[in-house]
Amino acid sequence: MSKKINQAPRGTRDILPDEQVYFSYIEKIFESVVNSAGFRKLYTPAFEDTNLFVRGVGKGTDVVEKEMYTFNDKSGNSLTLRPEGTAPVVRAYLEDGMQSWPQPVKLYYYMPMYRYERPQAGRYREHWQFGFEMIGDKDPIADVAIISTASRIFKKLGLIDQVNVQLNSIGCQNCRPKYLKELKEYYGLNLKKVCVDCKRRYETNPLRLLDCKEAKCQPLIEEAPQSINFLCDDCHKHFKETLELLDEIGTNYEINPRLVRGFDYYTRTVYEFWTQTDGYALGGGGRYDRLVEILGGKPTPALGFSSGVDRIVEELKKHPEIVINQESAADVFVAQIGEEARKSCLKLLNGLWDQGIRAEGCLDKGSISEQLSMANKLKTKLTLIIGQKEAFDETVIIKEMDSGNQEIYPHEKIIQEVKKKLK
Ligand code: HAM
Repeated sequence: MSKKINQAPRGTRDILPDEQVYFSYIEKIFESVVNSAGFRKLYTPAFEDTNLFVRGVGKGTDVVEKEMYTFNDKSGNSLTLRPEGTAPVVRAYLEDGMQSWPQPVKLYYYMPMYRYERPQAGRYREHWQFGFEMIGDKDPIADVAIISTASRIFKKLGLIDQVNVQLNSIGCQNCRPKYLKELKEYYGLNLKKVCVDCKRRYETNPLRLLDCKEAKCQPLIEEAPQSINFLCDDCHKHFKETLELLDEIGTNYEINPRLVRGFDYYTRTVYEFWTQTDGYALGGGGRYDRLVEILGGKPTPALGFSSGVDRIVEELKKHPEIVINQESAADVFVAQIGEEARKSCLKLLNGLWDQGIRAEGCLDKGSISEQLSMANKLKTKLTLIIGQKEAFDETVIIKEMDSGNQEIYPHEKIIQEVKKKLK
């Protein structure tokens, strides 16, 4: 028997009920913000044709070169577990006829992603992302809408003071080649000084030279030519208007000329939301004006943002002052003692569940004190107690857990009384 049979695969984990509280809190806030901004939900399959990512994300990217979970199915099709959500959303936009919907099409998702990365704090092989994409809008107002919506999510999560919004423009297919030529010339003269990975990046994906974390590459990055100095007139105007609009609505940001993002699909304005302290990104995104066309559609501007839920959970845990809306697992606990009481308890629980009341009960033979301590742990508002006498009298004791007050009611009045007290 494999010794791994009772272990989750490396880089994955179970998300237990206590953590679910955070996941639900984030999902609820995320959904309320994007719903009010007019985004609608979609899910895409957990796996896609491998070529979607090779073509969409780009052959020379770390994700495609090193991090994809790719396998052949029994018919020999090459499939890949979704490493990110943008290419699948654009594939769905094309496949599901969304080009004929009123534009822009605004979609959001909350889904797990899969990347074969070296696991460490905040980095998992299965991680969750929330994201939202706007397809069919070229105006800088759309960029500002995405960045400010992302900021609003962090504000509502209570984390806006913990994040630092960084922006850059990496130009378009017209101006970027000139910039890349300059960048390659600069690195070409200094190739001996860079790390092994950068030697590879120099050949396959020079933009990512600026993204290297190796200490020995930092001095070169500092002095490297910057994309914002090579923008064509259209990209320059687009970026300038984006910044002016952000200033106008009072969204804070910082320009980071070294921000390039990891995927080939990006054009023009890109952004990342960084934690102030431990230096990892809580979210990122940007324009991808050529992706629809690369995947076989007609030229359509688009942009979006996504965020790592696991990382946000870790950030929230560092700030106990942020009150997470901790819902108790149940509002009512039903405790019983004795054989007849057990039967009444079952009947009562079913009556409560029928009325949509969140109720828990112990049908096992625990002592009353064990059952009351269970009710305390569940943080229920009420505990209903059925002892042998109550079972005989067809009555129930309702105990209010906060005040400790308790009263006796006949069976037929219980549901009505519970509803009244829970209001
Ligand atoms: P990304 O920057 O690769 O962008 O991922 C988005 C966020 O997911 C990151 O900022 C980070 O918080 C989180 N994340 C990424 N990898 C991991 C990991 N291994 N473990 C935990 N969290 C992780 C995208 O995926 C683009 N699709 C974003 C986008 C949407 N661009 C346009 N629209």
